[in-house]
Amino acid sequence: MKRKFRRLKQNRLMQLESALRSSEERFYKVFHENPAMVSMISVLDGVYFDVNRSWLSITGYKREEVIGRSIFELDFLISFNQSRDGFFDETNKGSEIIFQTKDKERRIGLQSSSIINIDRKDYVLAITYDITDKKKMEKELSRLDRLNLIGQLAGGIGHEIRNPLTTVKGFLQLMHRKDELYDFHEYIDLMISELDRANSIITDFLSLSKTKNMFQSPENINSIIQKMFPLLRAHAFAADKQIDLVLDTVSEILGDEKELRQLILNLVQNGLDASLPRQFVTIKTYMDESNVVLQIIDRGKGIPKEILDKIGTPFFTTKDHGTGLGLAVCYGVVERHRAKIRVETSEKGTSFIIVFPQNNM
Ligand SMILES: Nc1ncnc2c1ncn2[C@@H]1O[C@H](COP(=O)(O)OP(=O)(O)O)[C@@H](O)[C@H]1O
Ligand SMILES: [Mg+2]
Repeated sequence: MKRKFRRLKQNRLMQLESALRSSEERFYKVFHENPAMVSMISVLDGVYFDVNRSWLSITGYKREEVIGRSIFELDFLISFNQSRDGFFDETNKGSEIIFQTKDKERRIGLQSSSIINIDRKDYVLAITYDITDKKKMEKELSRLDRLNLIGQLAGGIGHEIRNPLTTVKGFLQLMHRKDELYDFHEYIDLMISELDRANSIITDFLSLSKTKNMFQSPENINSIIQKMFPLLRAHAFAADKQIDLVLDTVSEILGDEKELRQLILNLVQNGLDASLPRQFVTIKTYMDESNVVLQIIDRGKGIPKEILDKIGTPFFTTKDHGTGLGLAVCYGVVERHRAKIRVETSEKGTSFIIVFPQNNM
């Protein structure tokens, strides 16, 4: 009887112990494998008791550089609800903080915390989501919204500016034919070419503010390229560069010929700009499963990493006489054709790849 009772008691103890262990295990897992940054800080002196893997990877610290040191020593918290007050308060749900990584980079976090008691000591258990990138994206989106608005406004103005430009150009051409103005021919030519340049900037700009719903008909991209080829070759030739075509048989896509020409022209122009004399820019088409692929390849120096995410933003250019509208126009054309564009670049050259999906028809 006594023995049985002892056995029962022992079983119960073991059960309790294993329950405790599994709850500890669970806490350990939730703590360490949490994708959010989780830290435990002593309320008494702000010393770090533990931090998880995400915390370390985002802040760039090693575990031994953190445990035992205080949040003040590390200068982790730059601001907490405007000031640093309240960090050790009872509970905080979703406060925005600015924190500092080991490299003194400032990042934004969304933090919830609560006080827990372990071995009769109080700790702040803080869970922080790094929302820096999200914030950046929101800013970028609102910037794009603004650009869109500017684009629409400028679109309206663009039309109005074009008419007087046409008039001025007409009179300049008339003056060019007058013998008594022969001495001024050079200037008149320059004025005409500057007007043409202004006009083409406006054209690019207008196509940026174009809305969807344009007329699209079945097009064969190869025939568009072949039709443009003499023009492209002349372009290349003027700069002592070359263009070659590698065209596979491809299916038709639903498209707008004028826009597709603009897309090819802009990408080839960029490829030529990036090429050295006598280098080739290749225009390639092929099928990838049922998608039509257009690829413009150059052997230039490539696009530096720092500017890769800026290209295609209207007016972003690294060229002295660039407008920074070429790629922005391309991205618009690609989007209106429900296609996808991607860029592969290295020091050996750049390749823009446009994939037209089969169901674009
Ligand atoms: N094929 C390329 N090789 C290297 N850099 C490129 C290439 N295409 C685009 N870029 C970069 O992207 C920028 C923006 O291009 P784009 O929008 O066509 O404007 P622009 O040609 O007027 O500068 C260029 O100034 C250049 O820095
Ligand atoms: Mg360009």
